[in-house]
Amino acid sequence: MAQLWGGRFKDNTDQEVYDFNASISFDKRLIDVDIAGSRAHVKMLAKQGILTEKDRDAILSGLDSIVNDLKAGRIEITTEYEDVHSFVEAVLTERIGEPGKRLHTGRSRNDQVALDMRLYTRERAQGTDRLLKTLLESILDTMKENTETYMPGFTHLQKAQPITLAHHYGAYFEMLRRDRGRLADLLKRMNECPLGAGALAGTTYPLDRDFTAKELGFDRPTRNSIDSVADRDYLLEYLFTLSTIMMHLSRFSEEIIIWNTNEYGFVEIDDAFSTGSSIMPQKKNPDIAELVRGKTGRVYGALMSLLTTMKGLPLAYNKDMQEDKEIAFDAMDNCDNCIHLFTGMISTMKFRKDRMASSAMKGFTNATDAADYLVGKGVAFRDAHRIVGELVLACIDKNKSIEEMSLDELKKISPVFDNDLYEAVSLKTCVEKRLTTGAPGSGVMKKAIEEAENYLNA
Ligand code: ARG
Repeated sequence: MAQLWGGRFKDNTDQEVYDFNASISFDKRLIDVDIAGSRAHVKMLAKQGILTEKDRDAILSGLDSIVNDLKAGRIEITTEYEDVHSFVEAVLTERIGEPGKRLHTGRSRNDQVALDMRLYTRERAQGTDRLLKTLLESILDTMKENTETYMPGFTHLQKAQPITLAHHYGAYFEMLRRDRGRLADLLKRMNECPLGAGALAGTTYPLDRDFTAKELGFDRPTRNSIDSVADRDYLLEYLFTLSTIMMHLSRFSEEIIIWNTNEYGFVEIDDAFSTGSSIMPQKKNPDIAELVRGKTGRVYGALMSLLTTMKGLPLAYNKDMQEDKEIAFDAMDNCDNCIHLFTGMISTMKFRKDRMASSAMKGFTNATDAADYLVGKGVAFRDAHRIVGELVLACIDKNKSIEEMSLDELKKISPVFDNDLYEAVSLKTCVEKRLTTGAPGSGVMKKAIEEAENYLNA
């Protein structure tokens, strides 16, 4: 047991209490940001004359030696220490003696951990953004190649109107673009430095908080010392964004699972991203998509868990807040991993364009266009809707699609139908005539792709 606070105690901490209280097993991953924070802190202390330059230099090179030894595997962060902060201070003092004991001047573990979590969250949010960008590039590649790959669009999972694969993927492009926007927003809002808030009430030393904020890449110091140590909003925002990303990937996964069924057969997932069955030799299962869908609940759980942890906490720091770490780390790791594997899965997935097109030709996806055809001939839309409804009924009766009906059969339903109907309800016409902003027609889709490309290159 190595702890920073023995003086006031007569007896040792009970071992089970010590273990229950300790966070080193999971906060050890904060080591780099913790040391970065300490560096900025001692530089500032020396600049302000609170620490001698000699002490500063001893501390800085001591911290360097810890970083090097950790990297080289010469030392290890063990459960002998209560948390990552205690580890650094203890090892530093072991190495450099007296100056090590001055490191914590004008600082509390409360502003220290608040800083560490911000630095770590900032780094991770930037990493998530890079992964999303790579995913968007893969989605855009597929869009570029498939502006004329026709497929059915669905509502209620019932065939609705024909679209293209580029158009369908374009929807996911927008969702994930918004997620990047959310990351950018939270990164901007959170970029204030809590270091110098002390335990909760600042400190009597003449700290230069602007200096440490700048040194650590923050826009400014936080404005209220109590809020600084009590705030985990930025982490909640990140967890919400991760949850939304997972929700998007989960919907995408669900579609891929459906598209990959024998019944649909729209896609074939690469062998490298599929798994087999221990008993059924014919099986090739979409496990990656299922796991992405499955892990979504776990990331939502982290968000709900931290919201619940925070809801009853009086100001300022409370030990409950230590519970932010394990769940948030789990959510970050899982979400990033899901984005990465999902990208690999869709970049290697093959599309069975013939099956997509023939599916789009079935199920009356051109019924709206048949009604629009009648409107073009002067029929009011509501009447056209009824006429085509009757036509669909007749088609079902004869087991035919609209374009398989003879002109005689069509005229029996409405005399307005003519030979040009066939061209008007062809798959190509149905898609290519949809040219409103955001629609699938290749005329507008190509512009959308160009815009998406500019966005990614910006
Ligand atoms: N391990 C603690 C945490 O994660 C560090 C802060 C401890 N502060 C304290 N006053 N006990 O929140």
